[in-house]
Amino acid sequence: MAMTGKTRVCGVIGDPIEHTLSPIMHNAAFNALKLDYAFLAFKVKPSEVENALNGMRALNIRGLNVTMPHKSTVLNFLDRVDLSAQIVNSVNTILNKESKLFGFNTDGVGALKALRENGVEPKGRKVLLLGAGGAARAIAYAMAKESDELAVLNRTVKPAQELAKLLEKLANKKIFAGSLSPKEIQQNLQDSDILINATSVGMKPKAEESLVAPKLLRPDLAVMDIVYNPLETKLAKDAKAAGAKVVSGVEMLIYQGAASFEIWTGKSAPVEVMRQAALNHLMKV
Ligand SMILES: NC(=O)c1ccc[n+]([C@@H]2O[C@H](COP(=O)([O-])OP(=O)(O)OC[C@H]3O[C@@H](n4cnc5c(N)ncnc54)[C@H](OP(=O)(O)O)[C@@H]3O)[C@@H](O)[C@H]2O)c1
Repeated sequence: MAMTGKTRVCGVIGDPIEHTLSPIMHNAAFNALKLDYAFLAFKVKPSEVENALNGMRALNIRGLNVTMPHKSTVLNFLDRVDLSAQIVNSVNTILNKESKLFGFNTDGVGALKALRENGVEPKGRKVLLLGAGGAARAIAYAMAKESDELAVLNRTVKPAQELAKLLEKLANKKIFAGSLSPKEIQQNLQDSDILINATSVGMKPKAEESLVAPKLLRPDLAVMDIVYNPLETKLAKDAKAAGAKVVSGVEMLIYQGAASFEIWTGKSAPVEVMRQAALNHLMKV
């Protein structure tokens, strides 16, 4: 669609930003719905985050995605932040409404939707989550609310313990926290129904790595690896070979993006268009 004087601008801020898939997914979605919107990537240094958000107001930029390393910093410069983003101390979506900036986190709802749309229901199940970083925290909050039991294992145990303590109070259930030692992974995996890798292990260029020994994977397990580059991680390949149900990280990417799109436009996101745009791009890189 040709840009006009009325074109509304959205974008993503981060540093580095060159790898982002957000412009590809969102511009495809705007075009598919013939919306007069355009989406750009902005490289913003950590020292420039406040200026960037003032610029968002001044230039009337409608919406921003926020990626590493600014997801927590932006909280200091917003007018209002929704509960899930406050709890996980991480914002990945900003809406500019008449110069007031509203912060959201769509990673948790994106992960939940990715599971459900692929036939995996956390209700009544035990979830084992690997990681306690930005994305993991958002997923942990969603899983603490939706699943029956949750265990969070992280390389550095302290953030996992702090997260479990916080979520236990909110969800009113016991949440186990531990390390990523092979023994703790094995012990927690044996009675889990859903395994989610929310660490960056397995991401290119170290695509041959996985935290979970293939022999621990079983056909009655559902596995989601939120790493989406490579498209099929080692964990996903091992899980598939073991007969487990596998949900790709691209699914979470699409549904968190779809939730941001809906916040900015008020329209239902064309999920299939976003999926194809993301997959086409990822198959080339
Ligand atoms: N599919 C999606 O929509 C989506 C959305 C967001 C992120 N992601 C992907 O998810 C991954 C994590 O992103 P993030 O934003 O949460 O990053 P982050 O905040 O930097 O967290 C990184 C996590 O990975 C752990 N980790 C890193 N290297 C490790 C290693 N060698 N062994 C064990 N654990 C290790 C960290 O543990 P420590 O705490 O011990 O450092 C931490 O838990 C990235 O690959 C990112 O691309 C995907």
